[in-house]
Amino acid sequence: MSLKDKNIVIGVCGSIAAYKIATLIRLLVKEQANVQVIMTPDAQHFITPLTLATLSKNPVHSTYFDEQSGTWHNHVDIGLNADLLLIAPATANTISKMANGGCDNLLLATYLSARCTVMFAPAMDLDMWLHPATQRNVSLLQTYGNVLIEPENGELASGLIGQGRLAEPEEILLRIQQFFTDDLPLKGKKALVSAGPTYEAIDPVRYIGNHSSGKMGYAIAERLVTLGADVTLVSGPTALQVSKNINRIDVQSAKDMLDACEQYFDNADIVVMSAAVADYTPTTVADQKIKKKEDHFQIELTKTVDILAHLGQKKAATQSLVGFALETNNELENALGKLKRKNLDFIVLNSMQDKGAGFAHDTNKITIINRDGNKNEFALKSKTEVAKDLCQVITKHQHTVNPSS
Ligand code: CTP
Repeated sequence: MSLKDKNIVIGVCGSIAAYKIATLIRLLVKEQANVQVIMTPDAQHFITPLTLATLSKNPVHSTYFDEQSGTWHNHVDIGLNADLLLIAPATANTISKMANGGCDNLLLATYLSARCTVMFAPAMDLDMWLHPATQRNVSLLQTYGNVLIEPENGELASGLIGQGRLAEPEEILLRIQQFFTDDLPLKGKKALVSAGPTYEAIDPVRYIGNHSSGKMGYAIAERLVTLGADVTLVSGPTALQVSKNINRIDVQSAKDMLDACEQYFDNADIVVMSAAVADYTPTTVADQKIKKKEDHFQIELTKTVDILAHLGQKKAATQSLVGFALETNNELENALGKLKRKNLDFIVLNSMQDKGAGFAHDTNKITIINRDGNKNEFALKSKTEVAKDLCQVITKHQHTVNPSS
């Protein structure tokens, strides 16, 4: 009961996504939070105050004065009593008024009076979300210390596809739990993630590398942190940044990556190898820059250690070991072969035949296959959302094989 006795005020605005708040309130009440709902006048067109009052076990406020009971709803008291004010769904209109100090309803007056942390979860059409005015207002709110719960990508009420969907209730609950408590699903778990390419030196100025951007592995590392894990990210050369609470180890070659992974593997509960490791490395590295002479030039290469397979041999039953397979043909067969050969719990298959999947894109389309060969196919999504799907599977597995740690 991670939210016992926490006073959470939810401000609901006029968006079709308001229906999701019913589920969120149920989740919060299940965690024993005290939930007080305030609705903007427009919100009541989308979901009834009766539904939200019944679920929250508290009368819903929308106006300053309740004519029937003669009660005055004091926005200052509501704001002062709150441990958290969550505005969800936050529409472009309410976000604009919050950013600029507008105060034409009870929710906005409560927002201006509140001294607690404010979270806001926007929901709107993709063009409204991308409009510079909205983006400026969102940035302004963040400068006031308000916490953004990013809208997700997907199909919108307009039928358009893009960013703008209200975050799912489970995601909002997680963010609230993260704010109040340490009671996160992967609290106490250690995770090791590899990401990015490796560079195999030929001479002091040249190397063999690949086009991996590292985005998938970084998104996984960030998600594992959000879920409460203590994360070490072993990263090949990338242009990416990570949040401060990730232990990032920068490496260049496949050998460096192996050494770093070895160091952290035994203590890790969760191991996700998403790096694009070179399969071969120059047998010798020239001390000096190689001069051009002959018309033809050959470099002798030696196989690198397959880090994932090596770790698979040492894997304990309590560890969750996940590998990636990027395939161009016979995808399932090849991925299943790798899963067995490398002793993995899950293999994440990207097919190069899927548009928008694989290297350098911001999106990915994955199929997760488990030890029993069961397949779970996901739609094309942003890498951040792919990381959420994958980490949900990993969390479930970890709680099955290692419930106590
Ligand atoms: N991998 C690794 N160390 C290597 C090569 C690969 O840890 N030296 C890991 C990758 O991080 C990925 C998985 O193995 O999780 C699959 O890599 P991939 O190159 O697709 O598979 P290979 O086993 O190398 O097979 P092939 O190149 O024949 O497709």
